[in-house]
Amino acid sequence: MTGFALTRHLPNVEVPHVSLGEYPTPIEHLPALGDVWLKREDLSSPIYGGNKIRTLETLFADAQARGIKRINTLGAYGSNQAVACILHGRRLGLDTGAILFPQRATPTAAENMRVIMSECDRVTALRSIVTFPVHWLRLRGSRDTYLVPPGGANPLGALGHSANALEIAEQIHAGAMPTPKHLVVAIGSTCTTAGLLVGLPLAKQLGVWPGELPKLHAVRVTPWPVTARSQVMKLARATAKYLERIGGPKITPDPKMLVLNTKHFGWGYARVTPGGLAAASHFEELTAPPLDTTYAAKSGAALLELARETEGPILFWCTKSSAPLPEVNQQKLACAPGYIRRWLKRADNHSAFALSTS
Ligand SMILES: Cc1ncc(COP(=O)(O)O)c(C=O)c1O
Repeated sequence: MTGFALTRHLPNVEVPHVSLGEYPTPIEHLPALGDVWLKREDLSSPIYGGNKIRTLETLFADAQARGIKRINTLGAYGSNQAVACILHGRRLGLDTGAILFPQRATPTAAENMRVIMSECDRVTALRSIVTFPVHWLRLRGSRDTYLVPPGGANPLGALGHSANALEIAEQIHAGAMPTPKHLVVAIGSTCTTAGLLVGLPLAKQLGVWPGELPKLHAVRVTPWPVTARSQVMKLARATAKYLERIGGPKITPDPKMLVLNTKHFGWGYARVTPGGLAAASHFEELTAPPLDTTYAAKSGAALLELARETEGPILFWCTKSSAPLPEVNQQKLACAPGYIRRWLKRADNHSAFALSTS
């Protein structure tokens, strides 16, 4: 079954949706880790994949329905979402701009920043995070610009991930894997997790989820209060309410389903952890999908721990795109502000030792 699973299961509910990704993303067994399975969200698009594509499918459709072509997104210098917004927005003829705040200079983040600077003509790279909320508020009030918030974290963005729960239910029925007892995903803006907290009980209520619902282990990569349990549940409830308002069934997200794992966060957002590095290199040895040090490596570290301690099946979200990035436009990069060029240099000079202690 290809396409948007929400429309397949709720044909009378009109969820704004435009197709950007290739679905279903595969589920693969990783036998070296035991009863561990991978949801290959990294393959969601050959243009740029990862978990953010599902979010953009609903948000971009909403922008189109409102007749807005100018998009602004918000995030950190190394934002995967900004890359996804720019590369996929262009396919729909949208004019995407990005307002970015400084973050830890790491190779993972620098790779994205180079693409953003090369591919986007409307980048505002802030020198400090202090002014970020002001930009956010100003954009929220704009009528001619559509705002994609950090991580796409609003009810409509989260619904894109609710559809994934229905997609997985179909894959289980088709024999792709046994019903998982545990799901493991990195939690940054809360969008993916909140969407799943709605999609899983929805799948159960519609009679398509086989057996018991799993525990959802959300592995913190952004600080409290962004990823406070109350924030996650707030977005999940708002998403459920939105679904009901557009004609879907009433869903009550269950806080007991959410296991908020804070053990792999380290010293802060995008700060590389030894556990994350070890998980990334273990995945590499197994020729499993790439784990970026900001997000998926930390959830990967949580996965390895869970796989040692708990009985499966465990389904792990490969959230970082594995599609090749476009070539960097060196000329454009040379025109970037000096503080960005210095930040990029710092990121490149990050030695393995600095990484493991940063
Ligand atoms: C690679 C990757 N993994 C995980 C996440 C976390 O997803 P969410 O922001 O929906 O919580 C993000 C968010 O940008 C991401 O880029």
